[in-house]
Formats: sequence, C-alpha cells, structure tokens
Amino acid sequence: MDDYFVILYLMPKDFFSHLHDKKTPPTYKFFNGEAWMDGASSKTVEVISPIDNSLVGRIPLVSNLEIDQAISNAKKAQEAWMRVPMIERGKILHLAADWMREHEHYLTALLIKEIGKNTPEAKDEILRSADMIDYFAHEGLHVKGEELSGEAFPGYDQTKMAIVEKVPLGVILAIAPFNYPVNLSVSKIAPALITGNCVVYKPPTQGAISCLHLTEIFYLAGLPKGLIVTITGGGAEVGNYLVSHKDINGITFTGSSQVGKEIAVKAGMIPLLFECGGNNPAVVLPDADLYSTAIEIVKGAFSYSGQRCTAIKYVLGLKPTIDKLIPMVSQKTKEFIKMGDPRIPEINLGPVISDGEADIIERRILMAKAQGAKIIMGGKRKERLIEPTILDLVRPSMEIMQIETFGPVVSFLRVESIEEAVKIINSSDYGLQASIFTSDEGAGIQLARQIKVGTIQINSKPQRGPDHFPFLGVKGSGVGVQGIRYTLEAMMRPRPIVLNKPH
Ligand code: G3H
Repeated sequence: MDDYFVILYLMPKDFFSHLHDKKTPPTYKFFNGEAWMDGASSKTVEVISPIDNSLVGRIPLVSNLEIDQAISNAKKAQEAWMRVPMIERGKILHLAADWMREHEHYLTALLIKEIGKNTPEAKDEILRSADMIDYFAHEGLHVKGEELSGEAFPGYDQTKMAIVEKVPLGVILAIAPFNYPVNLSVSKIAPALITGNCVVYKPPTQGAISCLHLTEIFYLAGLPKGLIVTITGGGAEVGNYLVSHKDINGITFTGSSQVGKEIAVKAGMIPLLFECGGNNPAVVLPDADLYSTAIEIVKGAFSYSGQRCTAIKYVLGLKPTIDKLIPMVSQKTKEFIKMGDPRIPEINLGPVISDGEADIIERRILMAKAQGAKIIMGGKRKERLIEPTILDLVRPSMEIMQIETFGPVVSFLRVESIEEAVKIINSSDYGLQASIFTSDEGAGIQLARQIKVGTIQINSKPQRGPDHFPFLGVKGSGVGVQGIRYTLEAMMRPRPIVLNKPH
C-alpha cells in the first residue's frame, strides 16, 4: 500500500489530545519540533475571546533556551528534508490539506471563538487554507532551475555555462497575524516545506490555539521531526528574539507596517517577505455604476469588521459622485450589515479583536470628528463591537487617513479632480491595493497605471485572492511578492554552478 494511504489509515482518532492539559479552559503546550512541551518557565499568556471576553486557553511563553534548542534541531532536520524528493514532500502536504477538511467543523468553531469571525468567514478560512496547501504542493513540482550559456554575453562563448539550481533558504521564520491565523500561516508554512525549508513558526497570540492545531495537522500528516517548530508567546518577548536569531535564514511576516519596519531593522541582511498594512483607497469615477460600487464598498469596508489588510479605508470622487454615493453606501450598510455576536447566523459584523484595538478605533473616529469630519453613520461602540462607521468631509491630513485603522470605518473625500485623487493616494505611506470604479475599463486601466500600489482592482473591492495571483505591497505595505508561484520562488535561492570547459 502507498505510504500516503498507510498514514491515512493509521490516523489517531483523538487527533488533538496532545496539545493541552485536561483543565478547562486548557493550558496548551508548544511544539519544539519533536514533541508537545510545557514551557520550562511555566509562564503563560491568556487567549481571550473577543466575543464574550472569556478565557479560551493559555499558551506558554517559550524561553530563549527552548527556542535555541528547537531551532538547532530544526536546522539538522532541514538538511535531511531538502533531500527528500519533492513528490514525497508533496504527499505529506496533501494529507495535511485532507485533514484540515476532515476537521473543518471543529477548526471553524475554534476560529470563531478565538478571533470572533462569523461562521462563513471562519469556514472559508479553513477550506481556503486546505486548497492553498494542495495548490502549493502541486505548483512546487513545477519550480525549476535553468541552464545558461556564456555565449549570450559579449566576450564569452560556449565554454562557460551555468547550471542554475534552486535551493531552499534553510530555516524560515513564519510570523502570522491574528486576522487569518490559519490561512496566513498556511500561506507561509506550505511553500516553505514543499521547497525543502524547515519552519520556525510564531503564531499571533490571538489565533495561537488554532495555529497549534494547524501544527499538529502538519505533524500528524507525516512531517518528519524537527521541520516545524511552533513557538508561542508575545511579540515583545519571543518575537523579538526570533527575528534577530542568528540561525534564521529568511522571514515571512504578515502584520502591521510599524511592526514590519521594526522586524526589518532587527533581522538584518536576510531575505524578507512581508505583507503589511493597507489603508486602501477606492476611486469612483463619474461614469461608475454607483449601485454595484456601493455594494463593493460596503463589503470592502466592513467584512470581518474591517480587520483585513485589503479592506477599503477611504473613498475618493468628485463632489457630485460622492454626494450621490454616500446615501447609497449608508442604505446598503443598513440592509447588509448586522452587528452582534458572530455565532448568530445572521450576524456579519462581530467584535474587533480586543478592548485595546477597540479603544484605538474609537479614538480615531473621535479625533476625525474633532478635526472636522462628519459621522454619517455609526461611530459608537459597545465593548469590542464598533458600529459600521461612515465618515464624510475627511481630509488627507487627518490621522484616520494617515494610519491604517483596523476596524469597520470608511472615510469619504471629495476631490476637485481625479488627478488630485491620484496625488492623495500616491502621497500615502501605504501601497497595498486600490480600487477603481468605472464603466470604462480602458479608462480604469489608464488610471491604474498612475497609482502607486501593489495591485489595482477595477470594479471590485481589494482582495488578496485568488491565491495564485501576485500579491504585494509597495512602500510601507510590504516587501517581496506572494501568490503561489511567487511565494515558492521567494522561499528559494538560485545556486549557479558554473562549468568552465576547455576551449
Ligand atoms: O489581512 C490581510 C489578508 O491578506 C487579506 O486577505 O483579501 O483574502 O481578506 P483577503
């Protein structure tokens, strides 16, 4: 019988029982690459549900000594792993994808509790992650090196040739954010593993429990010991230590622009693949279909309570356009957005991740108001629930325009000309995505070419997927390019071996 099916047949029934103690709520262990371990210091961090402020569980604060030991084991394991044929590595990844689907209900429920997504959003995250693992495993098979002849450059001939191999970077540090703890972990772990790297994985504090489950899925799918090391604890403690660790050969990170910049400074001269803040604009041209534009703006601004790096944060248009558009966006918000406990099926706007984040969002709204913005809708808060908020008369100098606000708030700006809109967008510190709404695709493409962001969407809200499209930010929004094939390339380096034959 094929190994793949043997593993499938032997899968333990109590799949996740090793991860925690028997208490309620449980204290979880970390994974040192070989076994689930209690932290040596017994210090833990609490994971609090944004839905009801309840304790979901505790995660260990892993010590530097434990990190050093785990990374040392990972390094050794990687050297053997890179020699395992890619087709065999891929089988393990496919099995991990299958186990994610098998445990979809359980993982969805955990994600809802831990980060406050609603059921469709959480379920989509799990299934999208399984599909992503499969896609990485397939696409990995098509990564290839090349052979180059010296004769193409003046002064050289066929006696010099390069065999350009693609080799793994080595030890990849993967740092995932709270808003897609599973999916934005998979987007790092799967490409790293299929290309022969090992992974030192730092989950976010909120989302960590889902991430520990993900670790177990990879491990029980047959990943050899040492190849995935999952280190829990706060960013200030373990995060800082990890990013400047001498044995890390590359970092893939999703999180705020501010943290990204700090990591880049600490990491030094190693390859970085960062997806950071967005603060994404939407430009509405006078000929846009305002009905569908309004729907896209509502979805873009308020899905997962605006806690997406690809959320629409501000909308620009000429005065007549914005005058017509705001009432339509307000109307569609009332129709589509239902705020409350995300476990209730009709609710599609749940709490933001923590009291601290809710404080920041509330303060930004109040600051914008104090600076002259008008609250058209929302603006109020009940604990971690922030009403879907529409601000008018916003100006580029306001704080709400300058720093990404990770909550359900969208600002409207009236501009004198579309050139002014372009100027405002291009002067931002961010550059992830932008949307252009128009009924003239040609005009949309022309305008897209003037906007300095990673991706421009014409007649849609910004979004990362489909996951094989290139996904990148410029300026403070990121470093490098993600998207299945692009991520795989980023996890490898070329190794030219140059043959010099006799003349
Ligand atoms: O928050 C950042 C994510 O990459 C956004 O992904 O566009 O699929 O929501 P999404």
